[in-house]
Amino acid sequence: SATEPNTLRTPIVAVLGHVDHGKTTLLDKIRGSAVSEGEAGAITQHIGATAVPLETVSEMAGSLVDPDDFDLPGLLFIDTPGHHSFTTLRSRGGALADIAIVVVDVNDGFQPQTIEALDILRRTGTPFVVAANKIDTTPGWNPQEGSPIQKTYDAQSQNASQRLDSNLYEIIGNLSDEGFSADLYWRVQNFQKNVGVVPISAITSEGIPDLLAVLMGLSQRYMKEQMEIDVSGPGAGTVLEVKDERGFGTTLDVVLYDGTVSEDDTIVVGGMDGPIVTDVRALLQPRPNAEIRTEKRFDKVESVTAASGIKIAAPDLELAMAGAPIRVVRDRNLDEVIAEVEAELAEIEVDTEEEGVVVKADTLGSLEAMANALKEAEVPVLRAEVGDIAPRDVAVASTAREDENKVILGFNVDVLPNAKEELEQSDVRLFDDDVIYQLIEEYEEFVEERKR
Ligand code: GTP
Ligand code: MG
Repeated sequence: SATEPNTLRTPIVAVLGHVDHGKTTLLDKIRGSAVSEGEAGAITQHIGATAVPLETVSEMAGSLVDPDDFDLPGLLFIDTPGHHSFTTLRSRGGALADIAIVVVDVNDGFQPQTIEALDILRRTGTPFVVAANKIDTTPGWNPQEGSPIQKTYDAQSQNASQRLDSNLYEIIGNLSDEGFSADLYWRVQNFQKNVGVVPISAITSEGIPDLLAVLMGLSQRYMKEQMEIDVSGPGAGTVLEVKDERGFGTTLDVVLYDGTVSEDDTIVVGGMDGPIVTDVRALLQPRPNAEIRTEKRFDKVESVTAASGIKIAAPDLELAMAGAPIRVVRDRNLDEVIAEVEAELAEIEVDTEEEGVVVKADTLGSLEAMANALKEAEVPVLRAEVGDIAPRDVAVASTAREDENKVILGFNVDVLPNAKEELEQSDVRLFDDDVIYQLIEEYEEFVEERKR
């Protein structure tokens, strides 16, 4: 190929969709793992990342992806919990993902988190494909292990293909209701204008070759320029999770979307009390095709280049926040980098007022999504923070003048035991849900009811 190796960044592919529609199973199939089976209650609780090299993609896609046609090193897949969409995944100026796969169960069709995922993709302008999953559950289906979709169709009875088609057209109709013009992917000429729908099964792998071919094609054709970055520059990333790791203390799971991070680099990370400045002690890389979230064996590496999922061990990370920016300082001025991180944190900070509700969320990204939704619903906010619900939050909420503001809205957070007691003894109402718009709806219903 014409481009030199290592100058192209690995595209970041977010996998989104409603709970149980098969996101983790799809990734398991692609990377040859069984993460889904090991999950408590078979539910994904945290965002994960897996680097899948180009060879693995082309092995899986067979004749549909010839590795010689591509300059991209592979794909970095981001798994998201269905109950959470991908509100954590932000970078300066928008979404962290370059492209996305929206997984929809063909039988279940559109569900609340499907719509939430589409809302976010629309807002961030992220191109995506729809994987219409679980086609093997179509009554009368004759499975064709690992086949491209056309070959699979040829092996079906007329009845079975008609059943599948009618489910697929329902999904295409739903997409159109959401304002996306869509069609079966083999009918799409211009993937920038139209959304391609790829029928797949994450269990039998039918259609997965097609899905990978569409993803590679999309990344290569429309985003190559975006991928041509200075991968040797100072690293920039987003914190996915803050985790205690034996022998390392508090560590960060990070998606590095730009540049390089090396051992001993000074980094600046967004924290609860402002930017944290510290030095990288160790860089722990999951093996290729491994999920950072469940990986037990990390390779200690000297340096990593974007896009990658990487665990960073460093002192003083206790107050780091999921969803916060992380920057490598290298030869730049430290104060400038701190200012940059501060500016990004401020961007997420919610406008608060003297009277309003208390909002708690699990990550900066979800806090931001909550703030946007509350603004649209014209609900004033007194305080908005990342973290579990603590006694202090109950105390703050109880200072509201209006009863309808003596409220805590919790998104994906726990109530600390002593806060539970305080709640019981106070007149503060708690609303919690793991779908943002449902949470706001519940609150609005409560306000309506009080007016009656
Ligand atoms: P969350 O992470 O909780 O949002 O769910 P998910 O979207 O990751 O779903 P997951 O991969 O955990 O799959 C949910 C269930 O659907 C599991 O029991 C899977 O075995 C099953 N499943 C996923 N894909 C398919 C498929 O293509 N066919 C069939 N028959 N079952 C599937
Ligand atoms: Mg999952």
